[in-house]
Amino acid sequence: MNSELDILILAAGLGTRMRSGRAKVLHELDGRPLISHVCETALQLDPASVIVVVGHQADEVADVVRQTLDDPRISFVRQERLLGTGDAVASAREALAGRDSRLLILSGDVPLIRKETLSELLARHSAENAAATILTVCPDDPAGYGRVIRSGENEFERIVEQKDASADELAVGEINSGIYCFETKGLFGALSKVGNQNAQGEYYLTDVPGILKSEGARVALFLHDDGLEIEGVNDRRQLAEMERRLRSRTIRRLMLESGVTFTDPSSVHISAQAAIGRDTVIYQNVTIEGRTSIGESCTIRPGTRISNSTIGDRSEIKDNCLIADSSVGEDCIVGPMAHLRGKAEMAEKSRVGNFVELKKTHLGSGSKANHLTYLGDASIGTNTNIGAGTITCNYDGKNKNPTTIGDNVKIGSDTMLVAPVKVGDSAVTAAGSVVIEDVSEFALVAGVPARTKKDLRKADETKGN
Ligand code: UD1
Ligand code: MG
Repeated sequence: MNSELDILILAAGLGTRMRSGRAKVLHELDGRPLISHVCETALQLDPASVIVVVGHQADEVADVVRQTLDDPRISFVRQERLLGTGDAVASAREALAGRDSRLLILSGDVPLIRKETLSELLARHSAENAAATILTVCPDDPAGYGRVIRSGENEFERIVEQKDASADELAVGEINSGIYCFETKGLFGALSKVGNQNAQGEYYLTDVPGILKSEGARVALFLHDDGLEIEGVNDRRQLAEMERRLRSRTIRRLMLESGVTFTDPSSVHISAQAAIGRDTVIYQNVTIEGRTSIGESCTIRPGTRISNSTIGDRSEIKDNCLIADSSVGEDCIVGPMAHLRGKAEMAEKSRVGNFVELKKTHLGSGSKANHLTYLGDASIGTNTNIGAGTITCNYDGKNKNPTTIGDNVKIGSDTMLVAPVKVGDSAVTAAGSVVIEDVSEFALVAGVPARTKKDLRKADETKGN
């Protein structure tokens, strides 16, 4: 049995227990919406299709999925009235009509499930020749989940929801993860036999395996040993707890597998998507978000936040910096209290110091901007020094304009560069200059507005004679 794979993700629910104006699956874990975690994992299994069932805030949920994962295999079906997980699956009846596939059903609110576990589930399903295979687990605390009842022969008997369970059934430790593999063909027939005579008045998907079994089909159980992976988020306490556990798992992996030092692991927040090289030291109260990559032997001092950025080997980020969507080369020093954003780029051996902001600016190799400076929409060459208090006046009230500064330039303290403007190689601006027109290479300019006072090349030649 090696049929195609379709994946259905249930994400239409209200998420009442979140007590939120936002659909539950839009709440974020590790900086990304819950639904995006699940869709991303689904795509890794190389399916023929991924169908997301949307209902509550359907357009918002679909938009978020499209924005985070633009993939033609993903489509959406709408559950008109939220009558339960069985009804949610039924709303994909047309989308899946005629499919002779395996259907993997995932929950939009079970975000940490890994592709390896799902592959094992699919393999078990095929090996057992089953009509349905249920992923189960024995968590520390089974409260709230549906319990999996086994027969005397230790075979699947049925699933009973917490709210419908007797005291004996509540004592069962094995729970339904809400993740299943079905033969698509047999599923919809069984689904039409599901009623809503239960404590919640809902059409439960969890009744389907019992119905299949009563019709003589094989229902297999795949007991998995990692409770965190199948944990569902139903309220904010669970969301916070999952965030905490995911974080400590990430930090543990970085320490044991990547060789990263943390001076106070419990105080740092590191995205599970981040990569950090060996012998890097991360101090307390550091936050590292998104797909950030930090090289080897770096030092990240207390209070810094780095988001979706790259830091090269041996660079030091001093205290209280914010670096977002930017890149820092090898052997750089940043901060304390510096701000890089909007694709700022620091080439190797460059330096940005106290109260300096870089936006959409390239700072060339060996160049320095050490104090109290704003560089926006600028390109700066190599070995140039930007004096204290320099400002690129890049915004004229309507447009953002570029500043280009060459190699070996000395920008004097408190220079205003009124963009668009260019400063040639080896030029010097005197302290307090307001540069409103281009400066030639080797020119010394001064004043308000700045005028050329000297050609430094000639001055050099004179000296040489
Ligand atoms: C469900 C299972 C339970 C299992 C648990 C695992 C049922 C009846 N129960 O319970 O056995 O232990 O998951 O986490 O299936 N949804 C819809 N449409 C609806 C209702 C829900 O799309 O009408 C979606 C939700 O958005 C959510 C998922 O289905 O992503 C699960 O719904 P939820 O209400 O959280 O079910 P649980 O009570 O957690
Ligand atoms: Mg749930």
